[in-house]
Amino acid sequence: MSLPLCFLLAILFVFLTTAKTRRSSGRGSLPPGPPRLPLVGNIFQLGFNPHRSVAAFSKTYGPIMSLKLGKLTAVVISSPETAKEALKTHEHALSARTYNDPLRAFDHHKHSIVWIPPSDHWRFLRKTLTKTLLSPQNLDAIQFLRMRKVEELVSVVNQFCERGEAIDMARALFVTSFNIISNALLSVDLATYESNSSSYEFYDAVVYLMEISGKPNAGDFFPFLRFLDLQGSRKEATLCIERLFRVFQEFIDARMDKRVTQKETEPNEASTIDILDSLLDLTQQNETEFTMNDIKHMLLDLFVAGTDTVSSSMEWAMSELIRKPEKMVKAQSEIRQVIGENGVVQESDIPKLPYLEAIVKETLRLHPAAPLIPRKSESDVQILGFLVPKNAQVFVNVWAIGRDSSVWENPMKFEPERFLLREIDVKGKDFELIPFGSGRRMCPGISMAFKTMSMVLASLLYSFDWKLQNGVVPENMDMSEVFGLTLHKAKPLCAVPIKKPTLISP
Ligand code: HEM
Repeated sequence: MSLPLCFLLAILFVFLTTAKTRRSSGRGSLPPGPPRLPLVGNIFQLGFNPHRSVAAFSKTYGPIMSLKLGKLTAVVISSPETAKEALKTHEHALSARTYNDPLRAFDHHKHSIVWIPPSDHWRFLRKTLTKTLLSPQNLDAIQFLRMRKVEELVSVVNQFCERGEAIDMARALFVTSFNIISNALLSVDLATYESNSSSYEFYDAVVYLMEISGKPNAGDFFPFLRFLDLQGSRKEATLCIERLFRVFQEFIDARMDKRVTQKETEPNEASTIDILDSLLDLTQQNETEFTMNDIKHMLLDLFVAGTDTVSSSMEWAMSELIRKPEKMVKAQSEIRQVIGENGVVQESDIPKLPYLEAIVKETLRLHPAAPLIPRKSESDVQILGFLVPKNAQVFVNVWAIGRDSSVWENPMKFEPERFLLREIDVKGKDFELIPFGSGRRMCPGISMAFKTMSMVLASLLYSFDWKLQNGVVPENMDMSEVFGLTLHKAKPLCAVPIKKPTLISP
């Protein structure tokens, strides 16, 4: 055997035999974890679906375990108890986030509400968001907008229904949630159901940016290699963001011009107010340090955080219901009872639909849009006696918690009924179900997400029955996942809408 090979094998042997006895210092020892290879550590054990790989490891190494990802130490949390420790007891130390290298494009990681560490600026951005777009008053005020977008979706589905054709639900649902956000922010549709439209450029850039940002990157694991941008992802993210910022700038310029003209011609006329208006107002207040650049980063965050999460959750819900026709019939009879014949679903009907709410929760339990919540420790922390060292990447595996058989009866079954029997919410207090996270970095878009998902699902289930394309039987539906910035269905759902039968006689 050659000398270099012996040397390599010796290193490998030392690493493998010492892998389980992790560093023990005065600060405590790291949680246990799988054996690791020299240099790369556990990177190659993560595979294409890291949430599944680490869930499998946690069965052996426990609800808190550690991994080495190149130069980085990662800690994975996989039970309600350890999640509570991480997100509540140690909320302050674990409120920062780790991010993938492409998010450094345009210094997005230094301006984004999603990615910057807790600071006065982060608090300001969060307050701005919860007082404008996501305030209860604004969510009520834009109710008509959600209704209009849902009506458009129903009318598109109706065309497929009349032709007896399958509709690509993934796309249709994405366009709907995209346009709800783009109208709330900018008062325009930025996506269309027609695939040859020019507005596709913007939409494509957002979709592509999400794809690139969700992929693991060599520069994340080996920071000294970052400057090389080996996979070219940061370069591509820069091109996407450049394109998106150009569009945002056009909207900002047009709105500023309109304001000047309006001041001159109709000084007493109240203009239509959308979020862009509220954000522009903020930049003009002397006491704030909110700039035009901040507006562009915030718009970008909202398109990325608020569209795909919602649409892919709805796609999972429809897929589960098509796979379980008896649950779909149950949901439809609840909705059709409440709405009656020839009606239209209104938001005021939603609180009268407990089974629909249970469907949304059950979908988020099995298919959380963000399966691994990314956090970062800003100081050493002890959880269950183990050390989570400063600067460790911390991942809360929401996906594994939702499928844990010690927490849920028949965890792999889609059983919305469980939420009719058990009082459990998704607002970050019940740690067995935290698809929106918990604590001060919890998702601020939860109400908006629930309103959109409930309205869209109720309307699709009220107006149509659903079946799969020729030859596909529900039991054989492909339910595999693709991991990215959000957890997608690998094979987009295509389903045939059927006109709803005449209902209950008066
Ligand atoms: C089904 C839909 C959604 C899911 C499952 C979801 C999930 C999440 C999760 C898990 C986090 C991280 C929470 C944590 O660290 O504890 C998050 C953060 C965030 N979400 Fe959502 N989200 C959804 C919809 C939305 C919508 C509609 C918006 C806004 C329009 C939104 C805006 C945000 C923002 C701005 C953050 C970052 C908050 C911060 O870091 O301070 N999300 N979301």
